[in-house]
Amino acid sequence: MPRALEAERITVQFGGLVAVNDVSLALDTGQIVGLIGPNGAGKSTLFNALTGYAKARRGTVRLFGSNVERLPPYARARRGMGRTFQIERPFEGLTVLENVLIPAFLRHANRAEAEAAAMHALELVGLSDRAVQPSSDLNLARRRRLELAKALAVQPRVLFLDELMAGLNPPALKEMIGFVRSLADSGIAIVMVEHIMQAVTELCEEVIVLAFGEKIAHGAPQQVMNDPRVVEAYLGGADE
Ligand SMILES: Nc1ncnc2c1ncn2[C@@H]1O[C@H](COP(=O)(O)OP(=O)(O)O)[C@@H](O)[C@H]1O
Ligand SMILES: [Mg+2]
Repeated sequence: MPRALEAERITVQFGGLVAVNDVSLALDTGQIVGLIGPNGAGKSTLFNALTGYAKARRGTVRLFGSNVERLPPYARARRGMGRTFQIERPFEGLTVLENVLIPAFLRHANRAEAEAAAMHALELVGLSDRAVQPSSDLNLARRRRLELAKALAVQPRVLFLDELMAGLNPPALKEMIGFVRSLADSGIAIVMVEHIMQAVTELCEEVIVLAFGEKIAHGAPQQVMNDPRVVEAYLGGADE
């Protein structure tokens, strides 16, 4: 059985800066892997390289055994890669449903089918009752759920979540943890960039730690958090 996602030796360079250096990661259907590390470690850049938004200098990305590293973002989305963006930018002038329809059209050319897929994504995140509201009316917690619905509208088999839980209050956090758990239980492979350790420890069996573009640790959450290199990476960033 091929793994859901298998990325090998990904390197991304911006001019002289090596933002991601030789990072590999792999996961299976239903698994949630956490990706943590101080600000600027290269987490979002790694997501961009895996989903096609940033050009990798080197490395391969296989989705259920097929190489996708040469494909543009929309083609990777059609093959089952969904993602949220760290800075979500809903189209303020559009309704909640219209925002989700845009990615749904990547999978369904037919309007009725795209609408059904978009409504299903809204149901999964508990936003279907707000479908016809302008997205500008949503509070932070609901904007995050909208961002998740947009990622789900491509019916992903591998899902990338970039700090989806940052800034949520405890009830909204608990709710979002529940959504992510049920998505994994439904068979989606999930990679999650997250600073909120409660979410990481509750959801991830496995965590990868990046610092200065490099993978410095990989293992169970408790194990990596006690790794001296990881402690040092976080403390080193704290007085910047
Ligand atoms: N488009 C870009 N052009 C140049 N440098 C970038 C670009 N995107 C990110 N970087 C740099 O790459 C490094 C990693 O950034 P990023 O992936 O956003 O880190 P993280 O998500 O871990 O906080 C940072 O030094 C950042 O300034
Ligand atoms: Mg980031």
